[in-house]
Amino acid sequence: MRWTAPGAGQALLSGQPAACLASDDPLVRSGRVLFGAPALLGGQAAKAGLGCASCHINGRGNSHFLLAGVSDGAGTADVTNSFFSAARGNGRFDPVAIPDLAMPGKVPRDPQAGALEPFIRGLIVDEFGGAEPSPATLAALAAYVRSIRPCAPERVQARGLADQLAALDDGVTAAALMAGRGDAAGVRLAIAAMRHQLGLIAERYAGAGFARERAALLAASRDLQAIGEGRDIPSALGHWQAGFDRDLAVRLRRGEARSLYDRERLVRALR
Ligand code: HEC
Repeated sequence: MRWTAPGAGQALLSGQPAACLASDDPLVRSGRVLFGAPALLGGQAAKAGLGCASCHINGRGNSHFLLAGVSDGAGTADVTNSFFSAARGNGRFDPVAIPDLAMPGKVPRDPQAGALEPFIRGLIVDEFGGAEPSPATLAALAAYVRSIRPCAPERVQARGLADQLAALDDGVTAAALMAGRGDAAGVRLAIAAMRHQLGLIAERYAGAGFARERAALLAASRDLQAIGEGRDIPSALGHWQAGFDRDLAVRLRRGEARSLYDRERLVRALR
């Protein structure tokens, strides 16, 4: 709601532009989950809970995006803004329409051209004040961006618990991929991305009736933190995931119709 045009909250929280990926190999799926992680960006963006996907929903655009001082109309953002970064802040207020990454743009996507990786690195480090991304993190993000395609026919798809559950699966994949490449920073980021997804679920299970689910989500998130600080992360995560799928995921699915993933309940909660 913090970066959404007044009156558009319901549309944004109940629907999303669909994207069809050219590939779902582990590198692409790793990029997809990191793309949603505020921890990838630094400073104000991370604090506000913004990730790449806040502006590029499923890698597409966000026609409802509106953040005071950053936008001059719904769907626009000034990414060279000192709100995000003192380094790249250019002292001018020059928002532009958030581009749909499924469409060809000013940055060539061709791997041979090699332009996408440095562009994304510049976004993270200079524009958003994030930490230097590891090579595997950058490779995953670029692979994901290169794979984003429009769906035919175009459609707005309902949001649901399944989005977050799929992202958690992607997170486990990403952590294993990063661990396999000996990339400790990438593993930490994958785990932060998963914890963010658990937080997104918790927001939807609002109210006294879901206190136990929220407590269990918090515990699951703390377990992830401990796993990230421990050894043999891929096997610990596999274990975590098996337990999560067996127990909490089942309870969450059972409660989904009573959660704020349900459009009617969401509408009422937003009143
Ligand atoms: C605050 C909203 C916002 C966030 C967050 C954001 N972007 Fe963007 N992105 C934009 C805007 C606006 C542009 C267009 C900038 C321009 O044309 O100068 C853009 C441009 C791009 C482009 C170039 C598209 C082209 O024209 O070829 C890519 C690729 C991209 N973003 C990827 C990312 C990635 C990866 C992240 C996360 C690290 C990210 N964006 C985070 C708003 C955002």
